[in-house]
Amino acid sequence: MIEFENVSFKHQNGVTALRNINLKIEKGTLTAIVGENGAGKTTLVRHINGLLKPAEGAVRVFGINTKQQSVAQLSKKVGIAFQNPDNQLFSDTVTNETLFGLKNFGMSEKEQAERLEWALNFFDLARYRDVSPMLLSGGEKKRLCFASVLSWDPDVLILDEPTVGQDYYHKEKITSMIMDLLSKGKTAIIVSHDLEFLWPLQPRTLVMAQGQIIADGAMANVLSDDETIKRANLVRPQLLELAIELHLHPRVLSNVKEAAKLILVRSVGAR
Ligand SMILES: Nc1ncnc2c1ncn2[C@@H]1O[C@H](COP(=O)(O)OP(=O)(O)OP(=O)(O)O)[C@@H](O)[C@H]1O
Ligand SMILES: [Mg+2]
Repeated sequence: MIEFENVSFKHQNGVTALRNINLKIEKGTLTAIVGENGAGKTTLVRHINGLLKPAEGAVRVFGINTKQQSVAQLSKKVGIAFQNPDNQLFSDTVTNETLFGLKNFGMSEKEQAERLEWALNFFDLARYRDVSPMLLSGGEKKRLCFASVLSWDPDVLILDEPTVGQDYYHKEKITSMIMDLLSKGKTAIIVSHDLEFLWPLQPRTLVMAQGQIIADGAMANVLSDDETIKRANLVRPQLLELAIELHLHPRVLSNVKEAAKLILVRSVGAR
């Protein structure tokens, strides 16, 4: 459904950010993209909604080459919540920011009103409806980006560093939003340095380094590999590290309670 074929990209200043990327992402799946600063993660996802077009190779979304579609056409299907909200938010009020996409994509007034209310309530922004987005806190700005993208219900949702600035409660909400989207058959792509946040979701994981995908597979497998961890400068989620230390299958430990139980059983057995 999303396909990169031999894609390379150079930014205007001559920095090569993607090197020969080959990738397929199927409908209804969850994919995480991880890797150190400057690895090319944001550059890669910006190719999916056509904000950037490949210098070499092709990107196809729903079978159509992104070079043959405008960003506006693609945005209806592919929503991106940017890494930096200040690059995304531009309206005078929280309400108008959330309504922008809804109006642009020609929804009826009734539907606009319903979706606006849903988005503002879900992301805890209803009390700010008449406030300028610029006056929101960092975490609130980020949630306004989610609200304005999700309100029009795109088929593919890309979240670039969604957990930055989010407290525990709102991180949990992001998790439930992702699970909800997946249950509706939507496709989600999350770029994140927050491996602890990603671990319970157990996504397919792409590891990027220096413009290339250096590993691709189930998160537990990909992050079990010492060489990948070293090359991409990653720190493993603690439950995975613990499983490795205990010589367990990496996915056995999905939460602390489970881990504690196993350790207790082992220590009793060892007496
Ligand atoms: N607009 C731009 N103009 C020029 N160079 C850019 C631009 N955006 C990114 N780059 C460069 O391209 C490379 C990849 O950047 P990108 O933003 O894709 O990395 P990233 O993996 O998202 O990093 P981070 O984890 O810091 O968000 C970096 O070397 C960066 O300096
Ligand atoms: Mg980035």
